Amino acid sequence: MKDVFPIHYDIEFEPDFKKFIFRGKEKISIQASRLTSKIVLHAAELEIKKCQISWNGIEINPKIQLDAKTEELTIILPKKISGTAILSIDFVGQLNDKLVGFYRSKYKYKGAEKHLATTQFEAADARRAFPCWDEPEAKATFDVSLLADNNHTAISNMPVISKKKIGLKTLYRFDTTPIMSTYLLYMAVGEFEYISAKSGKTLIRVITTYGKKHQGKLSLEFTKQFLSYFEKYFKIKYPLPKLDMIAIPDFASGAMENWGAITFRETILLYDPKTSSTETKQHIAEVIAHEIAHQWFGNLVTMKWWNDLWLNESFATFMATKAVDALYPEWDFWDQFLISEMTGGLSLDSLKSSHPIDVPVKSPADVRQIFDEISYNKGGCVLMMLEKFIGEDNFQKGLHRYLKKHEYANATTEDLWNSLGSISRQPVRQMMNTWVRQIGYPVIDAHVKDSKLKLSQRRFLLESNGKTKQGNWIIPLSVRIGDRVVNKLMKGPVTIPYKADWFKVNDGQKGFYRVKYDEIVLEVLGRRIEEKSISNVDRWSIHHDLFALCISNQISFKNYLDFIRHYEDEDDYVVLSDIIGSLNFFYTLLSKEEFWQEIKEFNQDFFNKVFSKLGWDTVEGEKPTTTLLRGQIISSLGRLEDKEIISEAKSRFSNLLKTGQLNPDLRGPIYSTIAWSGDASIYQKMLSLYRKAPTQEEMVRLLSSLANFQDKKLLSKTLSFTLSKEVRTQNLFQPIARMVTNPQGKELVWPWIKQNWKGIVSRFGVGNPLLNRIIGSVSIEADLKKEIEIKKFFTKHHVPGTEMKLAQTLERIRIHARFVQSIRKEFR
Ligand code: BES
Ligand code: ZN
Repeated sequence: MKDVFPIHYDIEFEPDFKKFIFRGKEKISIQASRLTSKIVLHAAELEIKKCQISWNGIEINPKIQLDAKTEELTIILPKKISGTAILSIDFVGQLNDKLVGFYRSKYKYKGAEKHLATTQFEAADARRAFPCWDEPEAKATFDVSLLADNNHTAISNMPVISKKKIGLKTLYRFDTTPIMSTYLLYMAVGEFEYISAKSGKTLIRVITTYGKKHQGKLSLEFTKQFLSYFEKYFKIKYPLPKLDMIAIPDFASGAMENWGAITFRETILLYDPKTSSTETKQHIAEVIAHEIAHQWFGNLVTMKWWNDLWLNESFATFMATKAVDALYPEWDFWDQFLISEMTGGLSLDSLKSSHPIDVPVKSPADVRQIFDEISYNKGGCVLMMLEKFIGEDNFQKGLHRYLKKHEYANATTEDLWNSLGSISRQPVRQMMNTWVRQIGYPVIDAHVKDSKLKLSQRRFLLESNGKTKQGNWIIPLSVRIGDRVVNKLMKGPVTIPYKADWFKVNDGQKGFYRVKYDEIVLEVLGRRIEEKSISNVDRWSIHHDLFALCISNQISFKNYLDFIRHYEDEDDYVVLSDIIGSLNFFYTLLSKEEFWQEIKEFNQDFFNKVFSKLGWDTVEGEKPTTTLLRGQIISSLGRLEDKEIISEAKSRFSNLLKTGQLNPDLRGPIYSTIAWSGDASIYQKMLSLYRKAPTQEEMVRLLSSLANFQDKKLLSKTLSFTLSKEVRTQNLFQPIARMVTNPQGKELVWPWIKQNWKGIVSRFGVGNPLLNRIIGSVSIEADLKKEIEIKKFFTKHHVPGTEMKLAQTLERIRIHARFVQSIRKEFR
């Protein structure tokens, strides 16, 4: 424990929208566990106006030092103190536009430009708003006060307890928070409206800027449902009297779980039945469930330090799927989990430059980087694997024990293993540490010999040609052999008696590993895929592993394409979505190759068969996932120049221009198709639709589609437009993300990033999570010379907090380059 730590903060802020600054005052009750004359706390980009200590009735005026590099404020006292004292500090900070700390967001209402002030403190940016012990373990209680213009309102974690008018301003005081970490504190000042409902004793509000509250109806409903779901699942009541869900026009990530005051991008909280898609609706549900899960996992029980970030993010990810699946079983969310979580987790963790779930981190820049597919996706997957292993009931009971034991305090991964292990009486720690403390995951080689199934494991790497040493994961193995399933813990190689005509390893894809089968076995599985006599999830799994084996040169590209034919009659969304993703990836990656036309025809053929069963319009009562599938197929066919798709898209688009009517689920696919086949005049039409778009969802769709033209001049225009004032910083990566999937546009991206790097960095500010998305986009390159060039450039123009992403991006480029080289040989 530190010598000095905080017990309670009394903080008051006054945002100034003319100077874009805020003035703050705080009184921190501190406890010194031993005699000390030095107090060190965090502060960044703050100007300290006054600093005083009151101890045993004496006022002490200390010396202070601010260190911009360590982001520390050191207070040197003329005499030693111990026990309790009150630290009073007055300060001024920037109401910045970088989406971190106490920042401003700009929007228009009825033609007038407006600002609001809001906070984003995770992971280490509370120190940009007030001097504090800005670490998850330094939990304290908070009394927040906000001084706002009379026409503004103020929001914080707790309800308002008093409002006092002082001239043109109103002072809002909020109730004392429970003991909590600084990264979860929240404050906002601006012109807000809301709708509300009650869930038990909890007041729920969906808060928006003026004119949008009606778009919060669906979210209000979801919030009620998920809040009560989690109260029942955890058997612990939500502890605060209110829960606000707040839509912020400018927002760095998707959403943030501030205790009692969750913030969102507008696209993830607002729903407009006329223009919002099924995908948006499901995403809203998922994110709301994710952030509400954090109210327990993260807020009530908090990781001791950021190395255990996964205790927050993996749980929220896993629990969100559980909750959505419970309330909306028809959405097949556990199936969709394979697309949304397992795909990204397996992908990142097959790089040498991945990292273990439990990873040492020190600086804020280190911490920011690990909000990635390891901490979210892989962690979510290993929880699914663990739940399967110990059983749903033990899992639920173990979580309850863990939460109860550590509520209003901090915990570690070991604490979690203790609770789950003692409830289930299973070797949870031994097994799970091989997944959490170790980088990577295994591929199981499966061979049949003499009526025996022989299984062995090694690490799966994309950049390895299959020659890695034996792995040491403790795998909760699940093998389907005909009608029965064999479960066992696999440590070393395993032999299983085999007297059936088929088997499939990783039954139901609950395990976080891949499988490599012999060719004869694959042929048998291929037939079962055709007959659909194995589950959709297993059909997904076989394709998913095969694709990865192909990219890592462990099977040939032609073998891969041959195998795809077994899926010609496939009708399941997750299976097809995986195949569509892979085929589109090849289409983009190989666009400069001589044999591109062959790939194109293969894809056309495959996608057309699927489309012929779907048609353009939603069929009464169809599964929501069928709707999602239709969108993906239409977009894919559009980009393959399918004549019928293009002509129908054109007619629906011109109808939209005339009537304003277009099925929300077809908007994205039609805009993309129109762009792909469009010229400068279509570009102008889309741009003007963008400028008039009624919601951010619609804007983002149009913005992304501006990156889907074929004409390089138009694409360059889109890139410049991306850095203009007309594109919010939060959306800057959207057209880039689309352009790298555009066979004609992908080569424009890297030169553009290189040329505009300074501007991009200054738009975001150092350490913004969106910067890493931009870096990641270059991984579509497939040339070893480019890899060297990119490495050189970023070494010269280094930005802290991008190291991991850069290493991963470079590794992907090398993988792509080798892959393309090997395919060239195949097609020669
Ligand atoms: N705690 C995060 C928000 C966050 C992310 C803060 C990165 C600081 C850095 C929040 O709970 C979250 O995970 N948001 C996700 C949405 C989620 C459903 C995947 C996001 O913003 O992408
Ligand atoms: Zn989260």
